[in-house]
Amino acid sequence: MIQLTSISKSYKVGEEILDVLKDINLSINEGEFVAIMGPSGSGKSTLMNVIGCLDNPTSGTYLLGNEDISAYKDEELAKVRNLSIGFVFQQFQLLPRLTALKNVELPMIYAGVGRKEREARAKRALEKVGLANRVNHLPNELSGGQKQRVAIARSIVNHPKIILADEPTGALDTKTSISIMEQFTELNKEGVTVILVTHEQEVADYAKRIITVRDGLILSDEERGR
Ligand SMILES: Nc1ncnc2c1ncn2[C@@H]1O[C@H](COP(=O)(O)OP(=O)(O)OP(=O)(O)O)[C@@H](O)[C@H]1O
Ligand SMILES: [Mg+2]
Repeated sequence: MIQLTSISKSYKVGEEILDVLKDINLSINEGEFVAIMGPSGSGKSTLMNVIGCLDNPTSGTYLLGNEDISAYKDEELAKVRNLSIGFVFQQFQLLPRLTALKNVELPMIYAGVGRKEREARAKRALEKVGLANRVNHLPNELSGGQKQRVAIARSIVNHPKIILADEPTGALDTKTSISIMEQFTELNKEGVTVILVTHEQEVADYAKRIITVRDGLILSDEERGR
């Protein structure tokens, strides 16, 4: 479902060209659960941004589903993103003045879903992540783990096929991390493709496949028994 062929990404910084991704070849099938690991600065977030259509590669081809999205313009990419991909970030990225419910409704507003249905779907998503009793809380009235649950609820309301999470447990303690990883495992069991970046082996151990990136290259790519 995701196929990257000879993907590279370079940045020009002053006079210098920085090759951040170098000839990445990677395919990920529907229903996989993948962890991306590697040292700081190795290109993990850059790779996630390319996969998530947040950033265009410098060269190479990206097939998502059967569509070649390498040539898509910003507007088309935004649509693909909104409907096919859910995002979860280390720092949650919730809007501080909106309640949990309103935060979860946001991707549906962009997708043009009507108010009643939005509210119903947002409530269901919050129930699913165990936050039925926190719908009217503002982000600063929630714990870190609860904020991340809101973010996960937000990531699934448009029923995306893929969830991308860049260090989703990076700001959480071990116990909370476990409950968040159980949530991703549950979604993966329901058929959602989950791709996450982590520095922690215990987090990566939830995945069925671990990809290690070093200096913009894929160093290893292992399926694992669970
Ligand atoms: N917009 C940019 N302009 C120039 N260089 C960039 C840009 N974004 C990232 N880089 C560089 O690309 C390299 C890879 O960055 P990236 O954020 O992908 O690393 P990472 O593997 O996610 O690291 P971390 O584990 O610290 O999050 C870094 O050396 C970074 O400085
Ligand atoms: Mg990063």
